[in-house]
Amino acid sequence: MSTASADEVIADCSDLSQGDLPSEETEVLETVDDAWKSIARDDSTTRVDFGISANKVENTGKLRKDKVKLSVNVVCPSSSNGGGADTGESDAVSNTSNGNGGKSSSVLKPSPSVGATLENHMDSPIGSGSSENSTSSSLIDEAWELLSKSYVYFKGQRVGTIAANDDPGSETLNYNQVFVRDFVPSGLACLMRKDADVEIVKNFLLKTLHLQGWEKRIDNFTLGEGVMPASFKVIQDPIRQKEVLQADFGGSAIGRVAPVDSGFWWIILLRSYTKCTHDYSLSELPEVQRGIRLILNLCLSDGFDTFPTLLCADGCSMIDRRMGVYGYPIEIQALFFFALRCARQLLNSEHDGKELIERIDKRITALSYHMQNYYWLDFTQLNNIYRYKTEEYSHTAVNKFNVIPESIPDWVFEFMPLKGGYFIGNVSPARMDFRWFLVGNCIAILSCLATPAQATAIMDLIEERWTDLIGEMPLKIAYPALEGHEWKNVTGCDPKNTRWSYHNGGSWPASIKTGRPQIAKRAIELIEQRLSKDGWPEYYDGITGRYIGKQARKHQTWSIAGYLVAKLMIENPSNLLIISLEEDKKIAKPRLTRSASWTY
Ligand code: GLC
Repeated sequence: MSTASADEVIADCSDLSQGDLPSEETEVLETVDDAWKSIARDDSTTRVDFGISANKVENTGKLRKDKVKLSVNVVCPSSSNGGGADTGESDAVSNTSNGNGGKSSSVLKPSPSVGATLENHMDSPIGSGSSENSTSSSLIDEAWELLSKSYVYFKGQRVGTIAANDDPGSETLNYNQVFVRDFVPSGLACLMRKDADVEIVKNFLLKTLHLQGWEKRIDNFTLGEGVMPASFKVIQDPIRQKEVLQADFGGSAIGRVAPVDSGFWWIILLRSYTKCTHDYSLSELPEVQRGIRLILNLCLSDGFDTFPTLLCADGCSMIDRRMGVYGYPIEIQALFFFALRCARQLLNSEHDGKELIERIDKRITALSYHMQNYYWLDFTQLNNIYRYKTEEYSHTAVNKFNVIPESIPDWVFEFMPLKGGYFIGNVSPARMDFRWFLVGNCIAILSCLATPAQATAIMDLIEERWTDLIGEMPLKIAYPALEGHEWKNVTGCDPKNTRWSYHNGGSWPASIKTGRPQIAKRAIELIEQRLSKDGWPEYYDGITGRYIGKQARKHQTWSIAGYLVAKLMIENPSNLLIISLEEDKKIAKPRLTRSASWTY
């Protein structure tokens, strides 16, 4: 089951010029600069609609260059462990670990919480940083410097970034590895910078693809062919006396957790790379096409499912420890949707591709319908659930999953504002996890799993619940924290996930999102006051995120890269195009009202 050696593939690709475009792509070219200029020129939308031009993707399944208006509602993902499958080939060099188109429903509104207006942003020149004060620009310089120190080299090429470059003497665990999910903000920062640094992203994509081709075993069990590693590192093989790769597919990870998110992030980053560079030759390589298909085979296969969502074990994503997210966690569903839509753009329809694309289309439609209907919670929907009847049989049931209203936790009634809403954490028979999970909600906006109205409502919720969700160090990964008996039961008494810490309500500086740029600006101002001073920690503890996390690593790469990506997007909003998708009109709209939805 081997694919071509990644080294060969790297060599194959090295002479491809970045500007190569398929011949039919002649229309409007859209560099980041072009996109920005078009924003600045275009007064046809009111200034409050943060319209930008974007590549349109529809029907063809390929990235195209039509100009479309896109109402932006969000920005950056947060970036939101790792079998010791062994050794790659290689002679190598050093293991330097220092080394609605136009939807008006999502019109963005100035936030009452901040004085700034959108006009201020619209007037800033592209990528200028001119509005930066000196503290901010020295922070940016420091962040780039630290990011470059996190590069990991293999065969003389940069292939990723180490998770954390903590002080010598601190316990490394697996933080000296390149994590697939952690690399995403690093890769985005490299793609978004003015002089885009695309090589490291290409090398990373090809190296991880190569690792996917390995046989993966944990004890006597062989993992699926498409599984991507959670992380990898470069080690010195004492026998062969050369550097080799060592990948972790969950077999070495604390708790042996499955990296369900890795393959999805890989597809998403591949699409970002393609979008930014217009280098279609990478995604069109047969090995790359095969890698995408293998990942999709893992999640599109037939089974006993009655839902289009993906059944997952606990700890299968950024939250890589027991946190009661088993079942159908929002983070994976949103990533699944995002990856399906990216794959749809990247996949070649030749050979069996057409059939796969049809399966993707069907799943996208079913998944978005399911999520938008059953995961969405706002005041009205909460009231509907509160009044649910139970034990309903047949397809006319209103309470399809037989949720018992008494299982709604008290805190939700207080937390739910009249204005705003969010996708809840999990939905399965008789179980709704009402907790707020940041990454899933951000990704739902980026990928347009959320409708424009839902995206606006998520932003409203953040504004309405600023103290709870943002506090002193944006943003809280989950809300509220599990405490007492529930914490004991759900986390298995996890000392790292005590209340308001780490994944249990801890605050993660990498998790920045905007859309109403003034919200992002305000959030960034908060982190700028502390991040560098505190040594770019991994996470913060406490109900408002005031304290550096008990076991937080210092110089955590995604804290550094997340900050840079946020700044790059604030300075140049068209950078958003590199990561976000626009709405696909074919996706079914949700029907949330009881009467309209359920009567036949
Ligand atoms: C922690 C985080 C995980 C991250 C890893 C490396 O285990 O929970 O999401 O990928 O650290 O930073």
